[in-house]
Formats: sequence, C-alpha cells, structure tokens
Amino acid sequence: MIIKKLGLLGISVLFGLYSTCLAQDDVEKRIENLISKMTLEEKIGQMNQVSFFAVDDKAIAQYSEDDMNTFLERMGIAGGQGQKKPSQMTKAEKVALIRQAAAQMLDNSIIQPVKAGGIGSLLNVTDPEMVNKLQKEAMENSRLGIPLIIGRDVIHGFKTIFPIPLGQAASFSPQIVEEGARVAAVEARSTGVTWTFAPMLDISRDARWGRIAESLGEDPYLAGVLGAAMVKGFQGNGNLNDPNSVAACVKHFVGYGAAEGGRDYNSTNIPPVLLHNVYLSPFQQAIKAGAATLMTSFNDNDGIPASGNSYILKKILRDEWKFDGFVVSDWASMTEMIAHGFAKDGKQVAEISANAGLDMEMVSGSYVQYLPQLVKEGKVSVETIDNAVRNILRIKFRMGLFENPYVDTKKESVLYADAHLKAARQAAIESAILLKNDNNTLPLSRGKKVAIIGPMADAPHDQMGTWVFDGDKNYTVTPVAALKGEYKDVNYVYEEGLAYSRDKSTANFEKAKQAAASADVAVVFLGEEAILSGEAHSLSNINLIGLQSDLLKAVKSAGKPVVLVIMAGRPLTIGRDLPYADAVLFNFHPGTMGGPAILDLLFGKANPSGKLPATFVREVGQIPMYYNHNNTGRPAPEKVMTLDDIALEAGQTSLGNTSFYLDSGKDPLFPFGYGLSYTTFEYSNITLSASTVPMNGTLTVKATLKNTGSVDGTEVAQLYVQDIVGSVVRPVKELKGFQRVALKAGEAKTIEFKLTTDDLAFYGRDLVKKAEKGDFNVWVGGHSNATLKGTFSVTE
Ligand code: NOJ
Repeated sequence: MIIKKLGLLGISVLFGLYSTCLAQDDVEKRIENLISKMTLEEKIGQMNQVSFFAVDDKAIAQYSEDDMNTFLERMGIAGGQGQKKPSQMTKAEKVALIRQAAAQMLDNSIIQPVKAGGIGSLLNVTDPEMVNKLQKEAMENSRLGIPLIIGRDVIHGFKTIFPIPLGQAASFSPQIVEEGARVAAVEARSTGVTWTFAPMLDISRDARWGRIAESLGEDPYLAGVLGAAMVKGFQGNGNLNDPNSVAACVKHFVGYGAAEGGRDYNSTNIPPVLLHNVYLSPFQQAIKAGAATLMTSFNDNDGIPASGNSYILKKILRDEWKFDGFVVSDWASMTEMIAHGFAKDGKQVAEISANAGLDMEMVSGSYVQYLPQLVKEGKVSVETIDNAVRNILRIKFRMGLFENPYVDTKKESVLYADAHLKAARQAAIESAILLKNDNNTLPLSRGKKVAIIGPMADAPHDQMGTWVFDGDKNYTVTPVAALKGEYKDVNYVYEEGLAYSRDKSTANFEKAKQAAASADVAVVFLGEEAILSGEAHSLSNINLIGLQSDLLKAVKSAGKPVVLVIMAGRPLTIGRDLPYADAVLFNFHPGTMGGPAILDLLFGKANPSGKLPATFVREVGQIPMYYNHNNTGRPAPEKVMTLDDIALEAGQTSLGNTSFYLDSGKDPLFPFGYGLSYTTFEYSNITLSASTVPMNGTLTVKATLKNTGSVDGTEVAQLYVQDIVGSVVRPVKELKGFQRVALKAGEAKTIEFKLTTDDLAFYGRDLVKKAEKGDFNVWVGGHSNATLKGTFSVTE
C-alpha cells in the first residue's frame, strides 16, 4: 500500500536517502577506526598543509643565469666561503647543482614528512606525475596510508579561463556559474588537483578593494545563489566522489570584503546584525549547497582575527549551521595573529586557533611545531585534535580519495577542450554589460570600416584577469585575434594608441586619431591590466588608469561614432569618459574567449544581457555606496542641490539638511542590477496573489514583461522588497529573486516570483532569524531603481 502511494520515484528517493545514510554511517565508522590507530603526531600531521612549488626541469628551463646564481647562493650551495662562485660555473654545472638541491629539498621538506604522516595536504602541486609520486608516498609508504588532498587556487577556470567571478556574477545566471565551475573542476582534477579555494563569497561594497574582482558582488542574495551554484559545479552537484570533482572552499570567513578604506587585509568593524544579514548570509547558502571546506579570513573584526574567532567557527558554523566539513586558515593567517597583536608567539597562535575550531593550518606550521607540547600541557585537548582530524578525514573519505588517490596520466587531455572554450565564450557573452548605446551605435554593421584602438584590444595576458596561475595566454583569443580569424571579413584598421593601461606616452595618439578618421566607427578597448586588481591590489583612484581617458578624447575628436569597450577587474569611475563614447560595453576581465565573445556582441551575433553586480559610483569619494543601504532619518529628496545651485552666502539650513554629497549628489552613476540590451523591455501590470500573507505563507508576484524592440533579447527580471518598519532599521530595498527571460522581438510574457515569509526573515538584535509582521513594498524591474511597485502586509 505504502509502496503504491509512493510510486517508483518515491521508492528510489527513499532508497537514495537510505543509501546516503548508510554511506555516511560507513564514513563515520571508517573515521573512528582510523583515528583509533593514529598517534598524536599523525593526527597533527593531518592538520598541516604545506605549499610546494616544484623546482623541476620545466621550472629550471625558465630560470635566467641570474636566477640560477641567486638560487645557488641562497641555498648555500655556491658563492660562500670555500665554495666556487656561480660566475665561475658553466650553465650545465649550475643546472646539475640546482637539480640536486631541488631533489634534496623535495625529500627533506615533503617526502620524508609525508612518509611520517606529517602532512595532510599540499598546495600548488599541479604536475600529475608529481601528484602521483607524492600520493604514492602517502598511500604506500606512510604507516596508515592516508591520501593527501591537493589544493590550488582555481578561481575562474584552470586552463580555460572564464570571466572573473565579478563578471560571472553579472550574468545573473546560476547555470553559467555552475558550468564554469564544472569545467574548472574537470580540468583541474585531470592534473591531480582535488581541492580548490573558491568560491570567494566576500560581500564587497568598495571597488577600491582589488579583490572585488574575485567576489560575486555587493548583494548577499545574488552572491548566495551564485555561490551555491559554483559549489555545485566544483563538487559535481553533490557528488564529491565523482572523479571529475574538486572540493570547494568557501572563503574568506568572514567580513574580509569590508576592509576599511578598501585596503587589503585591513580591519573590519561589522556589528552583529549586519554581519548576520549581509556578510554571513552567502556562506550559509553555499554551505547548505554542500561546500566541503571553508577558509578563515585575514582580517580582524572588531578586534578578533578570524583565525582565532571561536564565535564564528564554533557557534555559527558548527552549532547553528551544522557544518561537518573542515576549516582551513588562509595563507599564514594564523601566525599573522602575532602581527595583529592577538598572540605573542607561534605557540599561542596554535593554542588559540586549535581551540577556536580551525582544523587545518595553511603553510605557517605552528600546529606541527607546537600542538604536541600544547596537548601535553593540557592547553589543547586530544578531543579538540580528534574533532579537527575527523572533519578532515570526513572530506577525504567522501571524496573517495582513499580508493582513488591517483591521476590517470594516460587519459586523453581535457584541457582547453572545445566544449570548455565554447562554455567560456558563452559565459563571457552573458557577463558583458551594455551601459550606454546612444543612437543605436551598437550593434555594428559588418560592412562598415572599423578602427580598433586601445591597449586592451590585443592583451592576451591581461584579458584573463587576476588569479590565473595555470591559464596560458597563448590560448587567449583577443578581439584583434578574433578579427584575424572568425571575423576576418571585417574591414578594420588597428592602432593600439597606448601599449598598456598605465602607459604614459602620447606618441601614438595621433595615429589612433587618424585610424578613427579613416573608419566609419572607432572601437576603443580600455581598462585595467590584470595585475591592477585581485589580492593586495587596492587602488585609491578608480578612474581609467593613466592616459586612457585622454586617448578616448583624442579618438573622439576624429568626429566618428565611438564605442568604448572596457575590460577591468573592478567597477570604475567612468563618468568623465561617458561624454566621449556613444556606446559603452563593460566587461569584467572576460577570460580566454573574451575576444570572440565581445565581437559577437559588437556585431550583433549576440545581444548583451549582463547586469551590474555592484554599484558604479560617480566619484570614488562616494564609496561605500550600495543599493541595499539603510535609510537615514533624513533621506535625500528626489532632486538635490548641486554646487552650482548654491547661492552666495546661502543660509546655513537652506540646502535642506538631507543626506547627499554637494558635489556628486545622492545617486550612483549606474545602479546595481543595471544593464541595457539592443532591444528594449517594458514592465507592466504588477499583481500580487494577496494583499496580506500569513506568517509561513507564500505570495506570488506577477508582472508582464514585454520586448518592445525589434530584435530578440534576454532580460534579467529582478524582484526587490522593502520591509517598511522593522524592529531594526531595514534596507531601503533588497533583491529577493531574479530570472533570465528570453523574449522574441515584440513578445510579452507573464513573469512570476514566489515570495515566502522565510524570504522576508532577517536577524534582529536578538540574532534570531525571523520575519516580522507589517507592511512591505515590492518592485519588479530591470534594475534596483525599478519603479513598478506593489504593496502587501504580513500578518500573524
Ligand atoms: C591567500 C588568499 O587570500 C586566498 O584566497 C588563497 O586561496 C590562498 N592565499 C592560497 O593561495
């Protein structure tokens, strides 16, 4: 009878759950069994991660003779007392000595400790032969045969580079993000990498911070949905055991994106309500999606460095969220607690972090060095060590590493596979944001002559963006390369104008201007070199760097329509450039296939559909400016005074006493969620399924979305909500839903969003998440300033 009711699907779901439970039981038994056999040193070894950059023949081949001399002197092999000077040696002699030293180093610092069970994880080993060699030492020559987990920063692609995460976020497409992570996982795993340090889920409201590039933007809901999709992509949609998966690592826990002044590694001061509602939220979503591991951040928040913060690592992560994977520190973030002034030495570091619930130490070695003694002294309990080891082994078992630790080096290469390049191209297309398109300057007609200008038109390295360790620029297809290949029928002339984004020479401006004059339209490729964003690359000025704005002006003076294409690692203050461009297509560094993707968009083979995942400010001084801010008691009115409106000797209160800048107003240059298309969309007829929703009820919000232009297009429809009165001040609006809607020219569709009262819940002063009864505004539209509005109330 029950079987009849459940049907076949039900039975298989039940069976699935049952076998998952069995498998979990099995894993827990295996963990306990293994732990019971481990010495204290072997346990601590699992908590130790070591970085190893192999000095192999490939690396040696890239050394200059100077590099070789430095290596030999630093290693104490040459140049010292009684030793031959490197300058007296032949190159062959140097190479032989370096090889010998490298082998010795490998043996001393990696092979012997691995054999002794003293290393649980390695990072930065990407040569499959080396992975197999080291894994073999761990599996066959260590006492207990525990596999290593091999980490690498695979942030937006391994070999095939996808748009930087901020770009992927602009697609507002979980599908694009999941596919990108899947491709990265397949490629990385094929070389032996089993663990990536992504996704980065730091909410960032400050474009000066270079790491905004790696983030999924300013909004916790968007970052949560896309972060969960990325975790699924890396981890094979929940199947960690899949031989094409890598374990994800959500980072940096927590608050790192709120670095004061946008200066990397800086302190943060995030109070508890904000921490819960904004900064923790995407992490919780990614952990719900099954993220296997988590990394602590470098910053201290309100005086407590994250790697020593038991409140976030124990109370929130374990007690509330029930996370059962493992936590790794960031690179030396534990021993950096000494520089913070939070610990006096390495021993205290190890004590603080172990007791705070940090399972694995990345590179700084204080666990291996001090935990044995700390356990003896009773300052860290064996139970604490065992718990950390349980968490680490759990992931190694779940990944099937005990059964499947090696890379199959005979398999056909999947690196840069056609399907991967195709996916990267589609991701770059869907990530591009059209910010301006006066007089339908875009798309360009293929019959016109085009002047291609600017330092980013043919910059294979820079187009890939930050955090690329493995991608090869020789595979990058730049716009110029695409014009020589797939788009070779286009009549174009190319003048770079500036050699790179920081170039300070105007020597080629005239040539660039002449090129524009000789063509029907000029396309100017500006932006940032890859090195200007990412970790430790903060800027205090986020205008187009160097002389790029001047180049744009020079080109404009030729009198032809100008299309500005930007490739950058952060939102830039481009207000002063807009008058000199008829159209603007903004790309966060678009990766390997950025060139053809951009040409597809410029020539109308594809229609832009990306939306801004972060607010674009007018002036850097407006930062932090983000759409989901709380209101002041004195919100600025619709129209505010400008500097030029102010009368001489105006009275003290005559400007209205509200919250805005006299010089840059109250609004950003472009709001969160903004982006145009070659067609136009119109939203109308908002209807709500009810005017009141009971607690735990669901509201359906519908609206009509019409493509009112003459070409097909895709619009990212967005749903925003405002809880008008709360027990704590609530944001003026918050994104609660989005969907990509494809519409033929002239087509209209009813779009529908479901909103539960859970979606309206937030953390108040008691730090308990709940919805409150009261009145709400709801908007549906194409960006965060949408005006199509409804209202409803939540009742008991
Ligand atoms: C430091 C960075 O903050 C982190 O994101 C990265 O994963 C580690 N280094 C490992 O390279």
